[in-house]
Amino acid sequence: MIDSEQLIHNLCNQGFCIIDDFLEQSQCQSLRETAQELYEEGLFRGAKIGLKLESHKNDLIRTDEIFWLEGNETNPAIQIFLGQIKELAQILNQSLFLGLHEFETHFAAYQPGTYYKKHVDQFAAQRTRKISCVYYLNEHWNAEFGGELQLYNTEDQLIESVLPLGNRFICFNSELPHEVCVTHQPRYSITGWMKTHAHFVLNKGAFSDL
Ligand code: OGA
Ligand code: MN
Repeated sequence: MIDSEQLIHNLCNQGFCIIDDFLEQSQCQSLRETAQELYEEGLFRGAKIGLKLESHKNDLIRTDEIFWLEGNETNPAIQIFLGQIKELAQILNQSLFLGLHEFETHFAAYQPGTYYKKHVDQFAAQRTRKISCVYYLNEHWNAEFGGELQLYNTEDQLIESVLPLGNRFICFNSELPHEVCVTHQPRYSITGWMKTHAHFVLNKGAFSDL
């Protein structure tokens, strides 16, 4: 069960919310095995930065590898994960009127020595990503392994350093800068974004005669 009050309170007051024990242990394990199998089959690809046609690989910024989910996967654990996400989005829509209607998501694999430098998930040209979500799949993790998610506020001050512990879920405002520190162990996760509809921005001055 999701504690909706805690979720809304933490997201509104600190910009993020961590939920440990997000799924059953066995579901987390199944997702971890799925991610590892897909990885070993060579189905992950070097991640890119930027939007659609302008996207490109940039190893100075990120060196993780990803596998996009289509939403039609038959794996029950993936469906359960997506079901939890849907429930979260409904709570956020009811309480905060965010108008979230879509979720785009991928598995991510960070091999030892990889990282994702400080960035924001919202694209400047299309601010449809509202809530960033990360669910960690690592069975054993401790601080020496690195790979922390570091979250900053809009004034660029560090507000939280999060270990990628198995079955931990974090969601945060997609406007917040964050980074993934260099990992020393393979680090698996599912990352996704709750999105609103694309909308047109009115020209400046459109309401000037009102
Ligand atoms: C991302 C990202 C954070 C993490 O994929 O955009 O910031 O902890 N991931 O994996
Ligand atoms: Mn990010």
